[in-house]
Amino acid sequence: MMPRIFPPDVAVDPLRTAVVGLGYWGPNLIRNLNDLEDAELRWICDLDPSRLETFGRRYPTVRCTRDFDDLLADPELEAIAIATPVSTHYPLALAALEAGKHVFIEKPLAASVQEGQELVAAAADRELTLMPGHTFLYSPPVNMIRDLIHGGELGDIYFISMSRVNLGLHQSDVSVAWDLGPHDFSILRYWLEETPSHLSAMSRSCIIPTIPDIAFINLEYEQGAIAHVELSWLAPSKLRRTTVVGSRKMVVYDDVSNEPVRVFDSGVMLDDPQSFGEFQLSYRTGEIISPAVTPAEPLQVEMADFCTSIRTGRSPRASAALGVEVVRMIEAVDASLSSSGARISLVETALSH
Ligand SMILES: NC(=O)c1ccc[n+]([C@@H]2O[C@H](COP(=O)([O-])OP(=O)(O)OC[C@H]3O[C@@H](n4cnc5c(N)ncnc54)[C@H](O)[C@@H]3O)[C@@H](O)[C@H]2O)c1
Repeated sequence: MMPRIFPPDVAVDPLRTAVVGLGYWGPNLIRNLNDLEDAELRWICDLDPSRLETFGRRYPTVRCTRDFDDLLADPELEAIAIATPVSTHYPLALAALEAGKHVFIEKPLAASVQEGQELVAAAADRELTLMPGHTFLYSPPVNMIRDLIHGGELGDIYFISMSRVNLGLHQSDVSVAWDLGPHDFSILRYWLEETPSHLSAMSRSCIIPTIPDIAFINLEYEQGAIAHVELSWLAPSKLRRTTVVGSRKMVVYDDVSNEPVRVFDSGVMLDDPQSFGEFQLSYRTGEIISPAVTPAEPLQVEMADFCTSIRTGRSPRASAALGVEVVRMIEAVDASLSSSGARISLVETALSH
């Protein structure tokens, strides 16, 4: 069991929670909430009775229901974690907020910016916590690289290139951009603290005719950085590899390696020309450092942040505002794809919402 997480001056009652959606991902939320000393898992909910039976047997003290309204009607229940398909996020979360419950929603926050903004307003009106499940914001390597960027160690960020590819799992209701895009887009937003000004995308629906299963996305940022994100359910091997190239140093982040972060003291300098029209370049290939990364299960830290945010009233690291920006980026991908890869201005889409 994870030790106490609430600061000493915070009310000590464990947070009374429920999990809705016991498919592929929901059981991870159940396990982590159940492991937190400062949370009490009271309900699990799924439309599918066989899933309820499986997890009801595993957690015998937890109440089981197929009816989401049972959760809303429990006056002692404080918070609901939602791990259902994307199209159900908005109606379930809105009903929970209207019933006075704090809400955690698995990524992406909602199926459109409009829906996301309505949820943000509903939570703010009632002073409730609304948190999207952007697990990578709680990953130790991602935080280490954020510190390197913000501490200035990498210099100006020239570009970031990301690959998130493997074989499957093909989703039947959303494209690869809605399924895998939230991970890279939330990391980019967290590292650069900026939404891209422009984005363009290409994709192909290789297997299911109407569902893009590969996407190549280019992003441009006001401060000068550019980024490329490759997403795919159709690749021979699993790659989770990001390269960050700055004016001082470069980083390779490989999430499936034992050395997930490698910092290269490498770069290129353009020296002062000796004569007009002459370029002098000096290449530097210095040491490569692989800093020790403190191990932690991101999902456990994420669930702890959800509970502490509710008890203290502070915004979680994965804020609802960040969740809306991630949805804005995915909507821009769709807008680009539906106009043959056009370069979409996110400044304009922000103004139009
Ligand atoms: N953070 C991560 O790394 C991560 C990984 C995988 C999935 N996810 C997210 O988790 C969510 C669920 O994905 P999944 O792959 O587990 O889906 P899934 O289809 O495997 O499971 C969804 C479950 O929700 C249940 N459900 C649907 N509508 C319901 C309703 N109205 N009330 C109660 N139960 C209902 C279904 O019966 C099913 O058991 C998605 O938002 C997905 O993006 C996050």
